Amino acid sequence: MSLFNVERVDTASEELRRRFRVYRTANLSSVTPEEFSNYLHASIGQIDSKSEGYAESELEQQRDLSIKFHWGHDHDFGDFKIQGRMADRHIKMLADLVTCFPVSLDDFAGKEVFDVGCWTGGTSLLLAALGCKVFAIEEVGKYADMAAYLVRAFGISDRVNVTQRSLYACNAEEFHDRFDIVYFPGVIYHLSDPLIALRILFNSLKIGGVMLLETAGIDEEEPVCRFEGSQIHLHGTREELDRTGWNWFLPSPSALARMMREAGFDGVTTVLREGSSRIYGYGKKLSQAGICRAGLSVPDIR
Ligand SMILES: C[S@@+](CC[C@H](N)C(=O)[O-])C[C@H]1O[C@@H](n2cnc3c(N)ncnc32)[C@H](O)[C@@H]1O
Repeated sequence: MSLFNVERVDTASEELRRRFRVYRTANLSSVTPEEFSNYLHASIGQIDSKSEGYAESELEQQRDLSIKFHWGHDHDFGDFKIQGRMADRHIKMLADLVTCFPVSLDDFAGKEVFDVGCWTGGTSLLLAALGCKVFAIEEVGKYADMAAYLVRAFGISDRVNVTQRSLYACNAEEFHDRFDIVYFPGVIYHLSDPLIALRILFNSLKIGGVMLLETAGIDEEEPVCRFEGSQIHLHGTREELDRTGWNWFLPSPSALARMMREAGFDGVTTVLREGSSRIYGYGKKLSQAGICRAGLSVPDIR
């Protein structure tokens, strides 16, 4: 039987859409709808390689998304709508994950959730609407700034904290044993060092904490990863251009499961979503299990 029961996914999506409706201009708390709209629309399409820290000489190597501002997830603000590059993935992804794995939408209430790679914050807002506290990080400054702006504008700073930070910079003690749930869809294939990333996130969980992960992957039985590389397309189809600076490693389901176990997770389940090249992963931190240190790029990792 498929883990992705269509009816259950639809029911969860409907509930999530309902919760997300709270983020409309009628509910703004610290700015007027006009100021809000102006701020958002002025950001979209802006090109700012300098403030992202890129030198002219390396621009051709960078991801379009890192340089030019693209909105992340679709958002109907009531007065106006913004279409994101990820469409309504924030809704569908969470609906998929709670359908597929032993976590319900109700389980998020009162929890500390680590939202890794939040883009313009659609998922962070959605998680907050489930009643949890969200700590969101994003490596691209302009997206972290936008997500933080939305949080302030909707007056939910007591529940959502957004920081510009790479997940590789979440290795310090302040991150240890901190979260109940690590929410990690759509990011691991962007990472040069997925095992270190998984270990950092494992360390960030409390004992009993849960990892919810999703990634692009490959449909292979064997535990293999395909190396894609940054795939810089300066010309080509829209799809190719969209993928500029896209993926590093694409795992098979069993490769992802092995990586998660190596990082310390127990009860690991990985599953390929039928008819797609997306893999979903679940794991628990049952103890502060050790890691094999041979060859690690961060030898002093906990
Ligand atoms: C494909 S989007 C996924 C967004 C969202 N998590 C989702 O599932 O819809 C990946 C996001 O992760 C961010 N990202 C990539 N590498 C990162 C890193 N090392 N640390 C933090 N964020 C990162 C990207 O900038 C981008 O905003």
